[in-house]
Amino acid sequence: MTETLADLYEARFGEATELGRDRPAEGEIARQLAHRSHRRWSDKSVDPDLLQLLFAAALSIPTKSDLMQYAILHVTEQAKKDRLAELIPSMTWIADAPEFLVFCGDGRRIRKVCEYRGTHFAHEELDSFFNPTVDAALAMSAFIRAAEAEGLVTCPISAVREPVEEISAMLELPERVFPVAGLCIGYPDWEPWVSLRLPPRVMVHKDRYDDSNFETEIDGYDERRAKRNPIRRQREVEKYGEREGYGWSDDKSRQVSHLERGGFVNYVNKSFGI
Ligand SMILES: Cc1cc2nc3c(=O)[nH]c(=O)nc-3n(C[C@H](O)[C@H](O)[C@H](O)COP(=O)(O)O)c2cc1C
Repeated sequence: MTETLADLYEARFGEATELGRDRPAEGEIARQLAHRSHRRWSDKSVDPDLLQLLFAAALSIPTKSDLMQYAILHVTEQAKKDRLAELIPSMTWIADAPEFLVFCGDGRRIRKVCEYRGTHFAHEELDSFFNPTVDAALAMSAFIRAAEAEGLVTCPISAVREPVEEISAMLELPERVFPVAGLCIGYPDWEPWVSLRLPPRVMVHKDRYDDSNFETEIDGYDERRAKRNPIRRQREVEKYGEREGYGWSDDKSRQVSHLERGGFVNYVNKSFGI
């Protein structure tokens, strides 16, 4: 039987649906439903011309006020790749990736344009941090979509914001240019499992925000996810104990119970003079 969008929906959300049953599993919706981040790469390298076309595609995103407040750093020197491996040793897929990019928010260029044309940049600092962040995230997302359409696979890396001072120094990022996320790029050497998502009825709200079924939905999601891909090692058993039926919500609530990327806030405050 031909695979349909409904089959991909079921794989993505772990719930049966008739939505898309009449549509073959083809095209952009199918590719997005089947998305996975990859952390292992085949030996195949990425064609330099294709990479340039992917940059062009990524730069074609809509951009807030037509300001284009982002920059993409392509890390090519071996010494820099070695340094990345040293700075983020737990993620070996970064140094192994055939290509590595860092998508940055860029609050610098527009200020220089103002200076160049004799005006004064008067936006509020937090807003002027947020807008470049959104643009950089959209550019990364567009790059991922274009890459997957070409048979490439990727893994975003927010871990570049942990040793942010070191990475920023390595990439010579000036004031107000800051990393949003790295991106590993390559060809797959295997198909990882599809990571189950919270269903649309939890994430998409009609006319008003409604999380009145919060507990039922979280429990249901935990169960579906545990059936598909149980979490074998519980985090921080010493602190929170061993829990029967440990699921996504246990795991994530324990994961975020620590300060993460504390240095990033200082870095941004310093960079933006906040
Ligand atoms: C902004 C962002 C940052 C991420 N940072 C990391 C990272 O530092 N290391 C990593 O291995 N995966 C990272 N990921 C990948 C997520 O873990 C992954 O998207 C998530 O587990 C869902 O899996 P999927 O992409 O296969 O559907 C990141 C994803 C995003 C969107």
